[in-house]
Amino acid sequence: MGFVPTMGALHEGHGSLVKASAQQCSETVVSIYVNPTQFGPGEDLSRYPRPLEADLEKCRASGATAVICPTTEDMYSNTTTVVTTSGPSEKFEGEFRPHHFQGVTTVVAKLLNIVQPNDVFFGLKDLQQCAVIRNMLMSLCYGCRMHALETVRESSGLALSSRNQYLSDEARVRASLLYATLKQVATRLSIVGFLSVEHLQEVLDTARSNLDSHGFSVQYLAVVDELSFEPARTLKGARVIVAAYFEGVRLIDNCAIIV
Ligand code: PAJ
Repeated sequence: MGFVPTMGALHEGHGSLVKASAQQCSETVVSIYVNPTQFGPGEDLSRYPRPLEADLEKCRASGATAVICPTTEDMYSNTTTVVTTSGPSEKFEGEFRPHHFQGVTTVVAKLLNIVQPNDVFFGLKDLQQCAVIRNMLMSLCYGCRMHALETVRESSGLALSSRNQYLSDEARVRASLLYATLKQVATRLSIVGFLSVEHLQEVLDTARSNLDSHGFSVQYLAVVDELSFEPARTLKGARVIVAAYFEGVRLIDNCAIIV
């Protein structure tokens, strides 16, 4: 059985995970649950979109055989135990959203224990979440296989995200500069063919000021090893990662470096 955990407001990115599971597994369970413990104070928990009927229809159309929509009482009443992590959870998202990953690992651990899948599907759009979950599955001896699938994008390059709904049509077009910049960084690094600290710093500084001058407020822009989230020492397995506010909306994205 395959399992796709989501927070709903489903788009083609989620759909690609459900379809991949439906192709590979005899049953596909989707969970729709906006998990409060992974949101920080002042984040968008209360306004997070919850279009349940449309979500159920999309699950059906993508090949899900069951959908679970637990309540917070179902998930958290009498909860006294949480899953804490170290390693890849500590930097980047972990720094800017201090309790985020504990919320994610705790809810995913619970959902996996409820659903008991053989296969679980995540999106590389949330690259650091993939690294954190992969570590949790190994550390806590979960037997299920983890699949991490490529990011689905708009034709402009903007990564699909439930939070894109907060952007105006015009802002969505301009927000595509985020991925274009990641690709430029990846290309400049792969042309040189190896990582030198000075060159990397120059490439990242140029990219950051380009984003800043186009209305982005960059929280981090870095090149990391995609599994450990330590600074990349070689281009193999390295990814360019970014988090930035654009018109008040927090966007994250990443790009592989072809070597
Ligand atoms: P959510 O943001 O709803 O994402 C659910 C899954 O869809 C995640 O694995 C995410 O990486 C993937 N996804 C999102 N946008 C994508 C895109 N454009 N292309 C491909 N996959 C995409 O991530 C969460 O929910 C939560 O943290 C969760 C794991 C459900 C725990 O609450």
